[in-house]
Amino acid sequence: MTKYNAFYGQSGGVTAVINATAAGVIDTARTHCDRIGSVYAGVNGIVGALNEELVDIGQESSDNLAGLLHTPSGAFGSCRFKLQDLTAQRAEYVRLLEVFKAHDIRYFFYNGGGDSQDTTHKLSQCAKEMGYPLTCVGIPKTIDNDLPLTDNSPGFGSVAKYVAISALEASYDVESMHSSSTKVFIMEVMGRHTGWIAAASCLAQDERGLGPDLILVPEVVFDKASFLARVDQVVAEKGFCVVVVAEGIKAADGKFISESGSTDAFGHTQLGGVAPRLVDLIKQNLSYKCHWAVCDYLQRSARHIASQVDVDQAYAVGRAAAEYALQGRDSVMPAIVRDEHPPYSWTLTPVLLSDVANREKAMPEEYISEDGFGVTEAGRAYFAPLIQGEAHPPYENGLPAYVRMSKSLVRKKLASHTPQNN
Ligand code: F6P
Repeated sequence: MTKYNAFYGQSGGVTAVINATAAGVIDTARTHCDRIGSVYAGVNGIVGALNEELVDIGQESSDNLAGLLHTPSGAFGSCRFKLQDLTAQRAEYVRLLEVFKAHDIRYFFYNGGGDSQDTTHKLSQCAKEMGYPLTCVGIPKTIDNDLPLTDNSPGFGSVAKYVAISALEASYDVESMHSSSTKVFIMEVMGRHTGWIAAASCLAQDERGLGPDLILVPEVVFDKASFLARVDQVVAEKGFCVVVVAEGIKAADGKFISESGSTDAFGHTQLGGVAPRLVDLIKQNLSYKCHWAVCDYLQRSARHIASQVDVDQAYAVGRAAAEYALQGRDSVMPAIVRDEHPPYSWTLTPVLLSDVANREKAMPEEYISEDGFGVTEAGRAYFAPLIQGEAHPPYENGLPAYVRMSKSLVRKKLASHTPQNN
């Protein structure tokens, strides 16, 4: 049987489990070594393909490859790089196909969120148009959990577990100190347009009054007066208040409460810093002592408390992607389907990239409590299974024993190329 090589790229914000997906692709390719020759990983995703910087996975040690399952971040480097439309930027597509042709690559796997699925979809269209036989499969990944047509996205379960545990532990701290010290703790989590991550912290709420008291999501317009009134009420009732806030909350005028002023290659505004703004508001209006934290990269790299369900799903989508490609399914993505009946179980099914690309899945309204400051039972039921199970990495000298790829590059065959954008 004729063998062809495969390209695998990581794209967008990384997660605690994206490398488990890489492991799924690599293991499956190896199982089918009669059909897939080498797996080449792009250095920094698609940018590596444009620059002909391809990591030869075959040169990585078996320890490194095994360690992908428990190592956070993007082992081969990720990117925020937008491929323009074919008509606007033909040269980049021509370049990609030249690189793939030069290295006998006929399978393309791209592991990312909505923008990355768009890249894969466009590349598939372009390869068809240019008559190059390339099978393109998108692989889901985003802590934001906003990919459509999949029950959840790999990466989300672990971030959900991290924020729920952090909110729980911080609430223990504030409870101990509130009588003479801090009354309000505000924890900021990611979520540019959707509140999935913040909402998942509801899992830490319990009948003893621990966990977050208020959860602020971008789906609900932020109203200063009602926020302050609720904080004041909670402090009056129980002595302290724990708030979890999504970075992307907006005021009635549609402006983010926190904007850093810079944008990325996709035109997304960089966010971060809403927690200190809320703290200022509370200090000025209620005079409570506050503490705050911005979880930022800590939340998406926290492999030490990853969810086992998330690790399993991340690996499985990598496996499925390679299998779909071998079945000749082009321009698809494995989506997670939740079985309707308990106990929690899931399967994978291929969905079309044209239906996934550039679409964001908002949280259903029925997950948000009527007052806009909490999560309903339906929401809890959705989130709860995703954080189940511990997937501890091995430890050495008290620290997780994470691996680092040697990234041995395949010899270049083409003249160098200057990327057209970014
Ligand atoms: O893609 C997920 C995400 O983590 C967002 O929630 C966040 O706004 C963004 O990435 C931050 O990305 P960057 O590292 O590119 O600034």
